[in-house]
Amino acid sequence: MLKFIAETKLNSWDVSPKELLIVFNKLDLSKSANAPRFLKSDKQFSKEVLINLELLKGGIDSLSPSTNQKIVDLLNLAFSSILVDVSKLKRSPCLGYSKSKRVDSHAPFVLMNQKVQQIIEDLKTIQNEYYDFISTKSEVVLANSMEYEHSNKFDLVITSPPYMNGLDYVMNYKIEMGWLNFANNQRELKKVKDEMVVCDNVSKGLIRDFHPIYTNDWIEDIKRNIQKNILRRGKYRRQDMPYIVHKYFDDMYRVFKMVVPKIKKNGRFILVVGIV
Ligand SMILES: C[S@@+](CC[C@H](N)C(=O)[O-])C[C@H]1O[C@@H](n2cnc3c(N)ncnc32)[C@H](O)[C@@H]1O
Repeated sequence: MLKFIAETKLNSWDVSPKELLIVFNKLDLSKSANAPRFLKSDKQFSKEVLINLELLKGGIDSLSPSTNQKIVDLLNLAFSSILVDVSKLKRSPCLGYSKSKRVDSHAPFVLMNQKVQQIIEDLKTIQNEYYDFISTKSEVVLANSMEYEHSNKFDLVITSPPYMNGLDYVMNYKIEMGWLNFANNQRELKKVKDEMVVCDNVSKGLIRDFHPIYTNDWIEDIKRNIQKNILRRGKYRRQDMPYIVHKYFDDMYRVFKMVVPKIKKNGRFILVVGIV
Protein backbone atom coordinates (compact mmCIF):
# COMPACT_ATOMS: atom_id res chain seq x y z
CA MET A 1 0.00 0.00 0.00
CA LEU A 2 2.85 2.39 0.85
CA LYS A 3 4.22 1.76 -2.64
CA PHE A 4 0.88 2.78 -4.14
CA ILE A 5 0.75 5.93 -2.01
CA ALA A 6 4.33 6.98 -2.73
CA GLU A 7 4.04 6.22 -6.44
CA THR A 8 0.77 8.09 -6.79
CA LYS A 9 2.14 11.13 -4.99
CA LEU A 10 5.38 11.16 -6.96
CA ASN A 11 4.18 10.37 -10.45
CA SER A 12 0.92 12.29 -10.84
CA TRP A 13 2.38 15.79 -11.07
CA ASP A 14 1.17 16.19 -14.65
CA VAL A 15 -2.50 15.45 -13.91
CA SER A 16 -4.77 18.26 -15.03
CA PRO A 17 -6.46 19.76 -11.93
CA LYS A 18 -9.45 20.58 -14.11
CA GLU A 19 -9.80 16.99 -15.35
CA LEU A 20 -9.48 15.66 -11.78
CA LEU A 21 -12.28 17.95 -10.63
CA ILE A 22 -14.53 16.96 -13.55
CA VAL A 23 -14.07 13.23 -12.84
CA PHE A 24 -14.64 13.76 -9.12
CA ASN A 25 -17.79 15.83 -9.62
CA LYS A 26 -19.21 13.24 -11.99
CA LEU A 27 -18.69 10.23 -9.70
CA ASP A 28 -21.72 7.96 -9.92
CA LEU A 29 -22.82 7.65 -6.30
CA SER A 30 -25.59 5.15 -6.93
CA LYS A 31 -23.54 1.95 -6.76
CA SER A 32 -22.18 0.80 -3.43
CA ALA A 33 -18.89 -1.01 -3.01
CA ASN A 34 -18.62 -3.46 -0.11
CA ALA A 35 -16.70 -2.50 2.99
CA PRO A 36 -13.86 -5.00 3.62
CA ARG A 37 -15.56 -8.07 5.05
CA PHE A 38 -12.65 -9.28 7.16
CA LEU A 39 -12.53 -6.02 9.15
CA LYS A 40 -15.02 -5.01 11.80
CA SER A 41 -16.34 -2.18 9.62
CA ASP A 42 -19.71 -2.08 11.47
CA LYS A 43 -17.83 -1.37 14.67
CA GLN A 44 -15.30 1.01 13.13
CA PHE A 45 -17.86 3.31 11.46
CA SER A 46 -21.36 4.49 12.29
CA LYS A 47 -24.04 2.93 10.07
CA GLU A 48 -24.70 6.16 8.09
CA VAL A 49 -21.00 6.91 7.58
CA LEU A 50 -20.42 3.35 6.38
CA ILE A 51 -23.23 3.62 3.80
CA ASN A 52 -21.75 6.86 2.47
CA LEU A 53 -18.22 5.44 2.37
CA GLU A 54 -19.52 2.46 0.37
CA LEU A 55 -21.22 4.84 -2.06
CA LEU A 56 -18.05 6.91 -2.51
CA LYS A 57 -15.88 3.84 -3.04
CA GLY A 58 -18.53 2.41 -5.38
CA GLY A 59 -18.32 5.63 -7.40
CA ILE A 60 -14.53 5.38 -7.72
CA ASP A 61 -14.61 1.64 -8.52
CA SER A 62 -17.22 2.11 -11.25
CA LEU A 63 -15.29 4.79 -13.15
CA SER A 64 -15.02 3.88 -16.81
CA PRO A 65 -11.85 1.90 -17.73
CA SER A 66 -10.96 4.75 -20.09
CA THR A 67 -10.53 7.15 -17.14
CA ASN A 68 -6.96 8.41 -16.71
CA GLN A 69 -5.46 5.86 -14.25
CA LYS A 70 -3.54 8.62 -12.43
CA ILE A 71 -6.88 10.27 -11.62
CA VAL A 72 -8.36 7.00 -10.37
CA ASP A 73 -5.26 6.55 -8.19
CA LEU A 74 -5.50 10.09 -6.80
CA LEU A 75 -9.16 9.53 -5.92
CA ASN A 76 -8.33 6.25 -4.16
CA LEU A 77 -5.51 8.01 -2.33
CA ALA A 78 -7.86 10.79 -1.21
CA PHE A 79 -10.43 8.18 -0.17
CA SER A 80 -7.89 6.24 1.92
CA SER A 81 -6.78 9.44 3.64
CA ILE A 82 -10.25 10.18 5.06
CA LEU A 83 -11.02 6.70 6.43
CA VAL A 84 -9.68 7.09 9.96
CA ASP A 85 -11.00 10.66 10.21
CA VAL A 86 -14.57 9.50 9.56
CA SER A 87 -14.28 6.38 11.72
CA LYS A 88 -14.80 5.91 15.45
CA LEU A 89 -11.05 5.50 15.79
CA LYS A 90 -8.11 7.83 16.19
CA ARG A 91 -4.39 7.45 15.62
CA SER A 92 -2.27 8.74 18.48
CA PRO A 93 -0.06 7.32 16.96
CA CYS A 94 -1.57 3.83 17.51
CA LEU A 95 -5.02 3.16 16.19
CA GLY A 96 -7.61 2.92 18.96
CA TYR A 97 -11.27 3.66 19.60
CA SER A 98 -12.13 7.17 20.72
CA LYS A 99 -15.09 7.54 23.08
CA SER A 100 -15.43 11.28 22.56
CA LYS A 101 -15.34 11.33 18.76
CA ARG A 102 -18.49 12.39 16.91
CA VAL A 103 -18.69 12.09 13.13
CA ASP A 104 -21.43 13.57 11.00
CA SER A 105 -23.04 11.13 8.56
CA HIS A 106 -22.04 13.35 5.60
CA ALA A 107 -18.41 13.57 6.72
CA PRO A 108 -17.19 11.14 3.99
CA PHE A 109 -18.45 13.52 1.27
CA VAL A 110 -17.30 16.68 3.03
CA LEU A 111 -13.80 15.37 3.80
CA MET A 112 -13.38 13.73 0.40
CA ASN A 113 -14.28 17.01 -1.24
CA GLN A 114 -11.79 18.88 0.96
CA LYS A 115 -9.04 16.37 0.18
CA VAL A 116 -9.63 16.54 -3.57
CA GLN A 117 -9.56 20.37 -3.41
CA GLN A 118 -6.27 20.14 -1.51
CA ILE A 119 -4.81 17.83 -4.16
CA ILE A 120 -5.98 20.26 -6.85
CA GLU A 121 -4.22 23.14 -5.09
CA ASP A 122 -1.04 21.03 -4.75
CA LEU A 123 -1.14 20.14 -8.45
CA LYS A 124 -1.55 23.81 -9.37
CA THR A 125 1.43 24.76 -7.18
CA ILE A 126 3.59 22.00 -8.67
CA GLN A 127 2.62 22.90 -12.22
CA ASN A 128 3.24 26.63 -11.66
CA GLU A 129 6.34 26.55 -9.51
CA TYR A 130 8.10 23.27 -10.29
CA TYR A 131 7.29 22.90 -13.98
CA ASP A 132 10.84 21.81 -14.86
CA PHE A 133 10.62 18.78 -12.56
CA ILE A 134 7.25 17.46 -13.66
CA SER A 135 8.65 14.81 -15.97
CA THR A 136 11.33 13.64 -13.49
CA LYS A 137 10.70 9.94 -12.96
CA SER A 138 10.70 8.51 -9.45
CA GLU A 139 11.03 4.81 -8.88
CA VAL A 140 9.40 3.23 -5.86
CA VAL A 141 10.39 -0.34 -5.07
CA LEU A 142 8.21 -2.65 -3.04
CA ALA A 143 10.66 -4.84 -1.18
CA ASN A 144 11.83 -6.10 2.15
CA SER A 145 14.89 -4.00 2.95
CA MET A 146 16.37 -6.92 4.91
CA GLU A 147 16.68 -8.81 1.61
CA TYR A 148 16.59 -6.37 -1.28
CA GLU A 149 19.73 -6.30 -3.46
CA HIS A 150 20.26 -2.72 -4.65
CA SER A 151 21.67 -2.54 -8.14
CA ASN A 152 22.97 1.06 -7.79
CA LYS A 153 25.19 2.85 -5.36
CA PHE A 154 23.78 5.92 -3.63
CA ASP A 155 24.98 9.36 -2.51
CA LEU A 156 22.36 9.53 0.18
CA VAL A 157 20.32 7.02 2.15
CA ILE A 158 17.61 8.26 4.52
CA THR A 159 15.54 6.06 6.73
CA SER A 160 13.29 6.29 9.69
CA PRO A 161 13.35 2.75 11.07
CA PRO A 162 10.19 1.21 12.50
CA TYR A 163 9.39 1.47 16.20
CA MET A 164 9.68 -1.82 18.01
CA ASN A 165 7.46 -0.93 20.96
CA GLY A 166 3.76 -0.36 20.71
CA LEU A 167 3.53 0.45 17.02
CA ASP A 168 2.20 -2.35 14.90
CA TYR A 169 2.21 -0.82 11.41
CA VAL A 170 -0.05 -3.47 9.91
CA MET A 171 -2.64 -3.10 12.67
CA ASN A 172 -2.37 0.67 12.34
CA TYR A 173 -3.02 0.75 8.58
CA LYS A 174 -5.29 -2.29 8.17
CA ILE A 175 -8.35 -0.13 7.46
CA GLU A 176 -6.68 1.61 4.51
CA MET A 177 -5.15 -1.70 3.34
CA GLY A 178 -8.54 -3.40 3.47
CA TRP A 179 -10.54 -0.68 1.70
CA LEU A 180 -7.91 -0.33 -1.06
CA ASN A 181 -7.76 -4.14 -1.47
CA PHE A 182 -4.11 -4.47 -0.48
CA ALA A 183 -5.19 -7.12 2.02
CA ASN A 184 -8.25 -9.33 1.76
CA ASN A 185 -8.04 -11.33 4.97
CA GLN A 186 -6.21 -11.58 8.29
CA ARG A 187 -3.78 -14.15 6.85
CA GLU A 188 -2.56 -11.63 4.27
CA LEU A 189 -2.15 -8.98 6.97
CA LYS A 190 -0.11 -11.42 9.08
CA LYS A 191 2.10 -12.26 6.10
CA VAL A 192 2.94 -8.57 5.63
CA LYS A 193 3.65 -8.20 9.36
CA ASP A 194 5.90 -11.27 9.50
CA GLU A 195 8.10 -9.86 6.71
CA MET A 196 8.61 -6.54 8.45
CA VAL A 197 11.24 -5.50 10.95
CA VAL A 198 9.81 -6.99 14.11
CA CYS A 199 7.45 -5.19 16.49
CA ASP A 200 6.23 -6.30 19.93
CA ASN A 201 2.87 -7.42 18.53
CA VAL A 202 4.33 -10.09 16.29
CA SER A 203 3.22 -13.73 16.32
CA LYS A 204 4.82 -15.94 18.99
CA GLY A 205 5.71 -18.54 16.34
CA LEU A 206 7.90 -16.06 14.47
CA ILE A 207 9.92 -15.42 17.64
CA ARG A 208 10.13 -19.16 18.46
CA ASP A 209 11.64 -19.79 15.01
CA PHE A 210 14.07 -16.86 15.21
CA HIS A 211 17.72 -17.74 14.49
CA PRO A 212 19.95 -14.70 15.05
CA ILE A 213 22.88 -13.89 12.82
CA TYR A 214 23.93 -10.97 15.02
CA THR A 215 24.49 -10.36 18.67
CA ASN A 216 26.98 -8.64 20.95
CA ASP A 217 27.57 -8.07 24.66
CA TRP A 218 25.20 -5.15 25.05
CA ILE A 219 22.29 -6.94 23.37
CA GLU A 220 22.81 -9.93 25.67
CA ASP A 221 22.98 -7.54 28.62
CA ILE A 222 19.72 -5.83 27.61
CA LYS A 223 18.09 -9.25 27.22
CA ARG A 224 19.21 -10.35 30.70
CA ASN A 225 17.84 -7.11 32.21
CA ILE A 226 14.48 -7.52 30.47
CA GLN A 227 14.29 -11.13 31.65
CA LYS A 228 15.04 -10.02 35.22
CA ASN A 229 12.35 -7.33 35.06
CA ILE A 230 9.77 -9.78 33.72
CA LEU A 231 10.54 -12.17 36.60
CA ARG A 232 10.34 -9.30 39.11
CA ARG A 233 6.93 -8.24 37.78
CA GLY A 234 5.75 -11.84 37.78
CA LYS A 235 3.71 -11.39 34.63
CA TYR A 236 4.20 -9.56 31.34
CA ARG A 237 2.23 -9.38 28.10
CA ARG A 238 5.14 -10.89 26.17
CA GLN A 239 7.29 -13.39 28.06
CA ASP A 240 9.41 -13.62 24.90
CA MET A 241 10.28 -9.90 25.01
CA PRO A 242 14.07 -10.48 25.28
CA TYR A 243 13.96 -12.38 21.99
CA ILE A 244 11.71 -9.77 20.33
CA VAL A 245 14.31 -7.13 21.25
CA HIS A 246 17.08 -9.34 19.94
CA LYS A 247 15.20 -9.93 16.71
CA TYR A 248 14.69 -6.17 16.29
CA PHE A 249 18.46 -5.55 16.35
CA ASP A 250 19.06 -8.62 14.21
CA ASP A 251 16.54 -7.37 11.62
CA MET A 252 18.12 -3.91 11.58
CA TYR A 253 21.54 -5.52 11.16
CA ARG A 254 20.19 -7.34 8.09
CA VAL A 255 18.94 -3.99 6.69
CA PHE A 256 22.36 -2.35 7.25
CA LYS A 257 24.11 -5.30 5.66
CA MET A 258 22.17 -4.73 2.44
CA VAL A 259 22.34 -0.93 2.47
CA VAL A 260 25.72 0.18 3.84
CA PRO A 261 27.83 -1.44 1.06
CA LYS A 262 25.69 0.46 -1.45
CA ILE A 263 26.62 3.92 -0.16
CA LYS A 264 29.15 5.72 -2.35
CA LYS A 265 32.46 6.91 -0.93
CA ASN A 266 31.73 10.11 1.04
CA GLY A 267 28.01 9.35 0.78
CA ARG A 268 25.76 9.83 3.79
CA PHE A 269 23.38 7.57 5.69
CA ILE A 270 20.80 9.52 7.66
CA LEU A 271 18.96 7.47 10.23
CA VAL A 272 16.23 8.92 12.42
CA VAL A 273 16.65 7.43 15.88
CA GLY A 274 14.36 9.55 17.98
CA ILE A 275 12.16 12.59 18.08
CA VAL A 276 12.50 14.93 21.02
C1 LIG B 1 8.96 4.97 11.34
S1 LIG B 1 8.17 4.41 9.85
C2 LIG B 1 8.80 5.51 8.66
C3 LIG B 1 7.84 5.75 7.59
C4 LIG B 1 8.27 6.71 6.48
N1 LIG B 1 9.54 7.33 6.69
C5 LIG B 1 7.21 7.74 6.34
O1 LIG B 1 7.45 8.88 6.64
O2 LIG B 1 6.11 7.36 5.96
C6 LIG B 1 8.98 2.89 9.52
C7 LIG B 1 8.51 2.19 8.25
O3 LIG B 1 9.33 1.05 8.00
C8 LIG B 1 8.54 0.10 7.32
N2 LIG B 1 9.19 -1.24 7.39
C9 LIG B 1 9.17 -2.14 8.41
N3 LIG B 1 9.85 -3.23 8.08
C10 LIG B 1 10.33 -3.06 6.83
C11 LIG B 1 11.11 -3.87 5.95
N4 LIG B 1 11.54 -5.06 6.30
N5 LIG B 1 11.40 -3.36 4.72
C12 LIG B 1 10.98 -2.13 4.36
N6 LIG B 1 10.23 -1.33 5.16
C13 LIG B 1 9.91 -1.79 6.38
C14 LIG B 1 7.21 0.19 8.06
O4 LIG B 1 6.17 -0.31 7.26
C15 LIG B 1 7.08 1.68 8.31
O5 LIG B 1 6.34 2.28 7.27
